[in-house]
Amino acid sequence: MNIQVDIRGREGLSGQIYKQLQAGILDGSLPVGERLPSTRSLAAQLGVSRKTTLDVFERLITDGYLRTHPGSGTFVAERPSSILRNASASGHRRPDLRSVPSVTVAASSPRTNQSCGYFATGLTDKENFPFEHWRLCINHALRQQARERTAYRDPAGEQNLRQAICRHLAFNRSVLGNWTDVVVTQGAQQGIDLIARAVIRPGDVVVVEDPGYPQARASFAALGARIVSVPVDAQGLMVDRLPGRARMVYVTPAHQFPLGMSMSMERRKALLDWARTEKAFILEDDYDGEFRFRNTSHTPLKSQDTDGLVGFVGSFSTTMFPELRMGYVVPPAELVKSISLAKQTGDLHSCTLIQNALAKFMLDGYFGKHLRRMHKLYARKRDMLLTCLEGDLGTWFEPVTSDTGIHLTAFLRRNTSTCRVFDPRTSALTGLSSISDFYACEPALAGIRFGYGGIETHELANALRLLSERLDERYVA
Ligand SMILES: Cc1ncc(COP(=O)(O)O)c(C=O)c1O
Repeated sequence: MNIQVDIRGREGLSGQIYKQLQAGILDGSLPVGERLPSTRSLAAQLGVSRKTTLDVFERLITDGYLRTHPGSGTFVAERPSSILRNASASGHRRPDLRSVPSVTVAASSPRTNQSCGYFATGLTDKENFPFEHWRLCINHALRQQARERTAYRDPAGEQNLRQAICRHLAFNRSVLGNWTDVVVTQGAQQGIDLIARAVIRPGDVVVVEDPGYPQARASFAALGARIVSVPVDAQGLMVDRLPGRARMVYVTPAHQFPLGMSMSMERRKALLDWARTEKAFILEDDYDGEFRFRNTSHTPLKSQDTDGLVGFVGSFSTTMFPELRMGYVVPPAELVKSISLAKQTGDLHSCTLIQNALAKFMLDGYFGKHLRRMHKLYARKRDMLLTCLEGDLGTWFEPVTSDTGIHLTAFLRRNTSTCRVFDPRTSALTGLSSISDFYACEPALAGIRFGYGGIETHELANALRLLSERLDERYVA
């Protein structure tokens, strides 16, 4: 469904937006349970600051019109009778929309992963993305497309992009290989699914980490796999708990999802030894391995694999932005053909325009420059966050030791009030999500994820102050 919001002038923006959303809720055009777009995308589409939309959401939550569900988004709340009474007493009417230009905002579907709030995960810093260079690359690709004859293309992807990815992986991830071993995908998610299609058969045992990434689990389950959850500890997957006769094991060694530690060297070696003995396959999900902040990071399993046991999956969602839907797979050479066939069966091939633009973006050096710039920026935000989590917020949180990615996880100390952390008024603003949903069998530990990709440096201190105020017993709401 669509949300209509009309902006009349720049005065009292938050009041205008508040009233129109409130009116939509009251007259039922925004029905109970409807999911709202994130504050960031609403702000972008209305051309207002994020602070404006955050303020509006906070007021609507405080007034009982919206509610948040940690990790899933903001929804229209059941209307308490007090709201209905007040509304009818004030003779509330929907504003006249006929004579003013309108901005139409598509509300996110309940199935999307859209998130909002300062620390929402999965967001990257788009304010600092070099869109002017990206536009040059898109224009270049468009001219190329206009010149070329119409044709379905290679399902594995455009040669120039596969070469660019191959070079990037050699430099950045020590994954060496031939460009013909790279298959271009729509994000890491499709990469996981394609490898699974090529490797597993119904009834095969597939091991996943516990806690772990639910969408990988969903892909394997959809293919009829028998899923076995194996716990992780501070060193990553507990290899000595792996079952016999597993066909495949899915791991996130660079940055365990959702806890964040990286797999120790001993575990990596033990896992490769296990796979060799069991003739099992390892699916290595390197969804955000490009951003590493200490020298302690280990090279991927893929670069230590001499026996063709590892399929490597990567993504441009963290290095660029997730709605680009670009990623890649580097399987063992003998699986390239079946993975390309699976790709062809699913969607024939990825969009050629974006592939060519991305290839130019990488080969002309814009991508490397962007990565270096983002690395500095994320390092600064991460340091600020860690300093606070280990300092002022140390009474409540215990951060997981982690050196990679653009989110940090922290366990809640025993004395921390979970209802204060997930107080709807706080979580709408902070976007914090619980890790408990990612546990399948193991008893869930209490912890939260702090995404720092999307937050501005200047917002970080405010967001942390807001959180500590809400957690502080002395704070009176
Ligand atoms: C562990 C993990 N793997 C894969 C993905 C999918 O990423 P992409 O956007 O590249 O499909 C995500 C996205 O959140 C993730 O958290």
